[in-house]
Amino acid sequence: MTAGIISVGSYIPAKRVSNEELSKTVDTSDEWIKSHTGIGNRHIASEEETCSYMATEAAKDALNRAGLVKEDLDFIIVATITPDYKDFPATANLVQRNLEIGNIGSIDIKAACTGFAYGLELGRGLILGGTAKKVLVVGAEKLSAITNWDDRGTAVLFGDGAGAAVMGSVDEGTGIVDSVLRTDGTGYDALNMPTGGTATPYKPGETPKEDMYLYMDGQRVYNFAVKVNVDIVKELMDRNNLIPEDIDYIVPHQANYRIILAASRRSKIPLDKYYLNMEEYANTSSASIPLALAEMDSKGLLKKGMKILTVGFGGGLTYGGNYIVW
Ligand code: ACO
Repeated sequence: MTAGIISVGSYIPAKRVSNEELSKTVDTSDEWIKSHTGIGNRHIASEEETCSYMATEAAKDALNRAGLVKEDLDFIIVATITPDYKDFPATANLVQRNLEIGNIGSIDIKAACTGFAYGLELGRGLILGGTAKKVLVVGAEKLSAITNWDDRGTAVLFGDGAGAAVMGSVDEGTGIVDSVLRTDGTGYDALNMPTGGTATPYKPGETPKEDMYLYMDGQRVYNFAVKVNVDIVKELMDRNNLIPEDIDYIVPHQANYRIILAASRRSKIPLDKYYLNMEEYANTSSASIPLALAEMDSKGLLKKGMKILTVGFGGGLTYGGNYIVW
């Protein structure tokens, strides 16, 4: 049996904030953001658009595109670092509730911007192991809720949204062929939520405001991101006897245009093989790869037999990717 993606879907909040609009409240400019990141806009969720709401809508879109019904699912994986509830319950449980389907398993994974790549491999394992027939894998983020809007170093980078994939048994010779999943926990403090966990609890009146939001050492993450982008692509290609000409698309985590440009030069893989949409959605962490796949599907770019690499990298520090034959 071979396991793979049957369909993809997405949900994007309607509220769109351009760099110009953001510049009215944050000390920045369209010119700085575009030249340093390639980002032009981001979509920001309303109060009602929770992480689980967006995940559920993306799931419905993926089911519709496949002509499947919610009862076809027997496991839900949600990759997110912005769950509806801190620690528990899992956001995947709320998606199960929203979809009103019983008798299935659900779990969240916290691998930041690599979450979707992890989710696809876990979904493949559940299917090949016989635990599930159809697995819903969602990457969903409400990063606006953990962004310090007074910190121009991070406020310009992030957006909200969700992307989903329905996985199941697929034709021989297609599907998720291989995955590389890695962690460097020594870099846990390069990009994280400094307080709120049991190691550093939030202390009313004592915790500085900036420690209550996402923290990022941009330069450290940048250097890591370029290196691992090159490493993951090389490892997936070497393990599967691929040369750059074999690859139809690389779908990277959409963090920053400059990271992808540097990785493309070092890997000697032409930039036009990388599918990029951070201009419209900014960095949506675990949602960015499935959002890109859903957009590519809507544009008719994904054809059966195409060879696609995904590449994720982010907080944790986590990194990894999948080799998919579509
Ligand atoms: N607008 C205007 N000026 C700014 C802004 C801004 N939004 N942000 C920073 N600056 C200024 C700084 O204050 C600094 O000014 P100074 O020279 O007078 O001190 C100058 O611009 C340069 O700042 P740097 O931080 O050195 O800028 P850099 O070139 O490193 O770019 C960036 C910053 C875009 C964040 C880059 O480091 C980066 O892309 N890092 C990786 C981010 C990433 O990929 N994250 C992915 C993971 S996300 C996740 O897992 C959730």
